[in-house]
Amino acid sequence: AHSNVVNIVEVGPRDGLQNEKGAVIPVDVKVQLIDKLVNAGLTTVEVGSFVSPKWVPQMAGTAEVLKQIARRPDVRYPVILPNQRGLDNLLELLHSHPSLTDEIAVFTSATDAFNKANLNCTVNESLTTLESVVTEALDRGLRVRGYVSVVVHCPYSGKVDYRSARDVAKRLVDMGCYEVSLGDTVGRARPHEIGEMLEEVKKSVPVEKLAGHFHDTYGTAVANVLKALEHGVRTIDSAVGGLGGCPYSPGATGNVATEDVLYALQGSPYTVAGANGRPVDLEQVVEIGNWISAQLNREPASRVAKAILAR
Ligand code: HMG
Ligand code: MG
Repeated sequence: AHSNVVNIVEVGPRDGLQNEKGAVIPVDVKVQLIDKLVNAGLTTVEVGSFVSPKWVPQMAGTAEVLKQIARRPDVRYPVILPNQRGLDNLLELLHSHPSLTDEIAVFTSATDAFNKANLNCTVNESLTTLESVVTEALDRGLRVRGYVSVVVHCPYSGKVDYRSARDVAKRLVDMGCYEVSLGDTVGRARPHEIGEMLEEVKKSVPVEKLAGHFHDTYGTAVANVLKALEHGVRTIDSAVGGLGGCPYSPGATGNVATEDVLYALQGSPYTVAGANGRPVDLEQVVEIGNWISAQLNREPASRVAKAILAR
C-alpha cells in the first residue's frame, strides 16, 4: 500500500515564469513570489534555471534570486540545468555561497524532435551529457531530480511511444536521479493515457521514484493528477495561478494550478505535505496566484482562484 501523503513540487517561479514574453520579471518579484509560497506551507519550490540566457531570457537572474530568498532549512529550493556549463555556473556560485541550494533537476525528453527544439541535441546526446553532469553533482553532495518531457504527446512528432518515456526515465534513475518527473509538456494528455503511460514506465522504474508534471492546455490536468495518484504516484508538480509553459512547446499553457490540486484533494484520503507539519494553506496560495497574475497583467488561470474571487 502506498502512503496517503502527497508531495507538491511548486514550479511556478521556474516553469511559470520562464515563458513570459516582454520585459524581464524583476528579481525582487521572483524573490517575493518564492518567499510567499514558502510562507503558505510549500515544502519544495523550484527557484529557476541555469540555462542559456539567449534561449530563456527570463531565467537569467536565477543566481541573484537564490541569494535573496529568505531561505528556510525545512524547504528545498532546486534549480534546473541541462548541461556542464549550467552545473559549472551553479558550483561557482555555491563555492562562495555554499548553502544556497542542495538540489538540482536535469531535463531531457522522450523524443528527439522535442529535445532538439528545447536543447539543440538528440535525446541520446543529452543523456550522454547528463551522465557526467549528474555524477559530478552527486559527488558534490547535491540531490538530483530528473525530468522527461513529452511523455505522451510531442508537439513535433505526435503521439509518443511510452517505451521511450520508460527507457529515458530508467536511464535517469540509473545515473542517480532520486526521482523522475514525467512531463505532459503540451498539456493534452487524457487521464487514460496517463494511466497507460505510467503502467509502461513502472515496468522499469519503481513508482516511488516517479512524479507527475502535467500542463493544462486541454483542461485535463487535475484529472491527470488524480489518475497518477490512483497509479501510486505521490509527487505532483504544480504552479501557483496555473502559470507556465515551455518556450519550445508552441501553444502549450501553464502547469496544473497548485490551488486546483489542493482543492481537489481537500477532504480526500490524501494529505498534502506542508513545511513544519503545517498544511499548505489554500487561501494563501489563491492570494499569491492573484498577486503574481496581477504582476503579470493577467487573470489567474486557476479555476479555483476564479471561483473564490467570485464569491
Ligand atoms: P546551444 O546554442 O546548442 O549551446 O544551446 P552552446 O553550447 O552552443 O552554447 C550557446 C551559448 O550559450 C554559449 O554562449 C554558451 O556558453 C551558453 P556564447 O559563447 O554564445 O556567449 N550556454 C550557457 N549559458 C548559461 N547557462 C548554461 C549554458 N549552456 C550554454 N547552462 C542549450 C544548448 C542547452 C544551452 C540551450 O538549448 C538551452 O539553454 N536550453 C534550455 C531550454 C530551456 O530552459 N527550456 C525550458 C526548461 S525545460 C521545460 O520547461 C520542461 C519541464 O517543465 C518539464 C515539462 O513540462 O515537460 C522541465
Ligand atoms: Mg513544464
